[in-house]
Amino acid sequence: MSELKKITIKRPDDWHLHLRDGEVLNTVLPYSSRDYGRGIIMPNLVPPLKKMAEIIAYKDRILAALPAGHQFKPLMTAYLSDDTSADEIISGYQNGILSAVKLYPAHATTNSAHGVSSIQSVLPVLEAMQKQGVPLLIHGEVTDPAIDVFDREARFIDTILLPLMKALPELKVVLEHVTTQDAAALILEGPHNLAATVTPQHIFLNRNALFQGGLRPHNYCLPILKKENHRNSLTKAVTSGCDRFFLGTDSAPHPKNSKESACGCAGAFNALTALSLYAQVFEQENALDKLEAFTSINGPKFYQLPVNTDSITLIKQQYIVPNFIMTADDREIVPFLAGETLNWSILR
Ligand code: DOR
Ligand code: ZN
Repeated sequence: MSELKKITIKRPDDWHLHLRDGEVLNTVLPYSSRDYGRGIIMPNLVPPLKKMAEIIAYKDRILAALPAGHQFKPLMTAYLSDDTSADEIISGYQNGILSAVKLYPAHATTNSAHGVSSIQSVLPVLEAMQKQGVPLLIHGEVTDPAIDVFDREARFIDTILLPLMKALPELKVVLEHVTTQDAAALILEGPHNLAATVTPQHIFLNRNALFQGGLRPHNYCLPILKKENHRNSLTKAVTSGCDRFFLGTDSAPHPKNSKESACGCAGAFNALTALSLYAQVFEQENALDKLEAFTSINGPKFYQLPVNTDSITLIKQQYIVPNFIMTADDREIVPFLAGETLNWSILR
């Protein structure tokens, strides 16, 4: 029998991760902390994390929930609001509490009601961030209900992001979870201070997956999955070797009953499957030699952090995704692609 194909890469980091809190945090964290060295932790808790004291306390709860032996480092973010003070952000960054600031347009997605109503209202904070080199992480979708849900990212780029980059040309920006050929082209052609995270679902699935044989709530996330031409352009860009794309799973757990509901929550809990899926897509594109840069090198380079020193090995061996996992308080969470068989596993 021939040897199974293997690939060893520097330990990846997850530059966009939702860990939630309480028993959900305790349940989901180990799936990230066993494979990733660091994670950029999203601040959209209820209530959102805006003050440094709240952010420090949340980081402590994450560290307390880490299984013995896991070296995972949470990198914390603050939730930008119209009333955010530039001084608090800058001192939080200088004191090493914050790694970045997250901009949710108000009402764009889960727990974003306290997000930003207009760029104008946070301009002084963004100016201060530009000066200090604090990265701004953007959920890039317009929220006007009159705009088609599939067009919201492209519209955001044209009407908000490009004017912002013109006004603040040195601001470090990560356009999060990009989904369109518009975003792919922007990053490929863009300046060194504009990068993007890419989720596994947006390069693995197109929007047909939302409706395959019926409504598929576990494939529903925001930004929503796009048409095949977008998925394909994005995949080509990400596997091209451009160093301004990096791994951000946007793993976003919700209890099963909140997903399988008349008004289901957006979010794919992909912490178990993300690395297998990235490997599968890079392999399909004949670009496995570019996988490590995407998972483990481009992100630290953008954040000016060292690359992790240890490694993980992916092996071309089937992985059957569990149907569900349980929290200690008896809530069921359904992983992304539950029950399906993937081509790559992580050697443990
Ligand atoms: O699908 C999503 N889920 N997109 C987001 O932007 C937020 C996330 C969540 O927090 O559930
Ligand atoms: Zn997210």
